[in-house]
Parts: sequence; C-alpha cells; structure tokens
Amino acid sequence: MQRIFAKSLFSNKVAIVTGGGTGIGMATAKGFVELGGKVVIAGRDKARIDEGVEKIKAHCSDGAEVLGLECNIRKRDQVAKMVTDTIDKFGRLDGLVNNGGGQFWSPAENISPGGFHAVVDTNLKGSWNCMQEAYHQYMGENGGKIVNIVLMSEMGLAGMSHSAAAREAVKNLSITLGTEWAEKNIQINCIAPGIFPSETAVAAYGEQAKEIFDKSAANVPKKRLGDLYEGESLSEGTLSMDLIPQILFNLTDGVQYTTGQTTNVCGGVTFFNNYLKGVYDIEAWMEERGINMG
Ligand code: ADE
Repeated sequence: MQRIFAKSLFSNKVAIVTGGGTGIGMATAKGFVELGGKVVIAGRDKARIDEGVEKIKAHCSDGAEVLGLECNIRKRDQVAKMVTDTIDKFGRLDGLVNNGGGQFWSPAENISPGGFHAVVDTNLKGSWNCMQEAYHQYMGENGGKIVNIVLMSEMGLAGMSHSAAAREAVKNLSITLGTEWAEKNIQINCIAPGIFPSETAVAAYGEQAKEIFDKSAANVPKKRLGDLYEGESLSEGTLSMDLIPQILFNLTDGVQYTTGQTTNVCGGVTFFNNYLKGVYDIEAWMEERGINMG
C-alpha cells in the first residue's frame, strides 16, 4: 500500500469496518492500519472478530491499534453501542466502511419471505443504521467519510434478486444522504467489487463456488478475477492493488467534492460483459485495434 499512499496517511484517523473479520472487510482494516489509522472491526460472529483482531495485529508488526466489537448491524441498539464504544475508545470517528452484509444464491421464486427480508434487512437497513448512528454520534458535527461496499447490480443480478434490490437501494441512499449531508462535510461513496474470491465468498456460495469463479475469469476483460492479496486470491499476505486502495482512497481527505458516486472495480466487466457479448468476437475486435487490457 505504501507504494501509492503515504505511510502516515491515516495517522490520527479512526474508522469502523463492519464485516471486518474476514474477506474484503479484513483486507480494508489491514490497509487502514498499515497507513497509520486506528480501526474498529465489527461483526456478528465474536470468534471471527477476535481472530480478525489477532490477524491485524500480526499484519502490522509496529503495533496496530485495533478494537474488535461484536455487533449485528440489523439491531439498532447494537449499532448505537458500536459507535459509542468506538468514540469512547479512540475519541473520534472519521470513516465508516459498510461492508457487513451478505446474500445467498437462489432463483427468485424459491426465496421465502423471511429470506428476502433477512437480506434486505442486513444489507439495506444495516447500512442505514450505521450511517445514521455515525451521523448522530459524531459525523453530523465533525464530518466524515462513508464507503458502502455494494454489488455491480445496476442491470439486475440473476439469482440475487433480494441482494441486488437492497444494494441498489444502498446506492440510492448514498446519493440522498450524500446530498443531504454534503454541507456537513460528509462524503458517501460506494465501491462495487467484481469477483474477488475470498474464503467467506467460497464458503457462502457452496462447493462449486471456486470452480464457477475460476470459469468466470474468461468473461472478464482483464482475463483474471480480482485479488485481495498479491498472487493467490485466497491467501492472506501483502494486500494487492486490485480493490483495497480504491476503498481507502474514499476515506482520505482527497475526497472532498465527490459524493453519492459508485465505482465498479471489476477488471472492465461493466462495459464489456453485457448484451453485445457473443454477438461478435470481442477479442479479435480488440486485437485489430491494438487494445490490450491484460
Ligand atoms: N455480516 C453479515 N451479516 C452481518 C450482520 N447482521 N451484522 C454484522 N455483520 C454482518
């Protein structure tokens, strides 16, 4: 990370990362402390969070300031406590990364009312709970940066109707709150990752997930899936440049005049993998024109 960001970029800054015990959340938290920040990782599963705290400490040999908090973002009282505990411990709250969330793959007709509600409750209301609490307890007075981790679902997402609807709602909420709170110096932006196979993603989507992920690389203009860590996607080591720097940038003071925006971080999928796919030979077309995304 130091290759593009100053090592002390986040010194004196404090951020909460929900769903911070694994995957994208954990990688974001590591990046934030690598750059001098103090981080709170929060999640429903206490054991996972405790393990995450140890991993972050091990990652930053020169002493990471990290607090792990058990919090179900669906429960407003727990979210309120998470924000209060953060401010009690570190005295401020500069950044919030709403990464906690999830979904399961299912044809729409098979999703139960309870299943639909759970996904919308976690992804949409969970993000809302965290944003509004952050506003009331700190950012409304002091400003701040909020990054919502969403999905590339703007064209719908077959097999993920519940989550796609919730994530698009989070994007819309980011626009509304971003404009309502612009004068409070709060910037709210979204990052939509393409396929970044983490262990949690593989676990969530079942046995065949890794194989499906690997096959889908052929449809990515960049011709590979995203890496959270350098080299092997599933291993944990040095953070890769694919995703986390984009999230971290949105937590810096370099973001003052941008709000309500979504960035798809997907190796070019957004623009190449849609209705023209298969109609003509994209690779030949690109080669003819000397375009090389590799
Ligand atoms: N990650 C997935 N679901 C969550 C929840 N309800 N609260 C916090 N983190 C989560």
